[in-house]
Amino acid sequence: MHRWAYTAVLLLVGMSTSLALSPEKLYLLHCMGCHGSKGEGIPGRVPTLRGFVGYFVYIPEGRAFLIQVPGVANSSLSDAELAEVTNWILRTFSPEQLPKDFRPYSPEEVTQLRRKAPLLEVSPVREAILQKLRSMGIIKP
Ligand code: HEC
Repeated sequence: MHRWAYTAVLLLVGMSTSLALSPEKLYLLHCMGCHGSKGEGIPGRVPTLRGFVGYFVYIPEGRAFLIQVPGVANSSLSDAELAEVTNWILRTFSPEQLPKDFRPYSPEEVTQLRRKAPLLEVSPVREAILQKLRSMGIIKP
């Protein structure tokens, strides 16, 4: 084979593997820098995903929030990749908080949620969601 042919084969192999990265690898590459390898966050700066993030999916506004938060909505990942990595985060870091009938995110749901207006003010939206979850008894006060 000519050298260019080897190069073409290597390129194709490289492209196909990068398209098929596991959700864990996507997390490590795109989210871990801030959220930590175990989803532990940085106290006072980046919220923990561990033992907590599963609560959000009990209510529609919480489901939307997990996709609309800036680090997620503005990431360079595709909608399908974001659906996968979010489902992976929920099941890996917060299985005990997830509702029993947890319905995983589909790429279509991510597309729809991501297209809405960006969340400019994260804290008040997050606080309103947590308040509602507390009033429903899902998060203990
Ligand atoms: C540059 C740092 C950074 C990166 C990279 C990042 N995040 Fe975040 N993330 C944050 C911060 C800071 C917050 C708190 C909300 C805010 O200020 O935006 C947050 C909030 C979140 C939340 C909401 C948690 C809560 O309890 O409010 C989720 C879910 C989340 N990020 C997921 C991800 C995912 C998935 C990725 C990778 C695709 C990612 N983040 C990449 C910094 C980051």
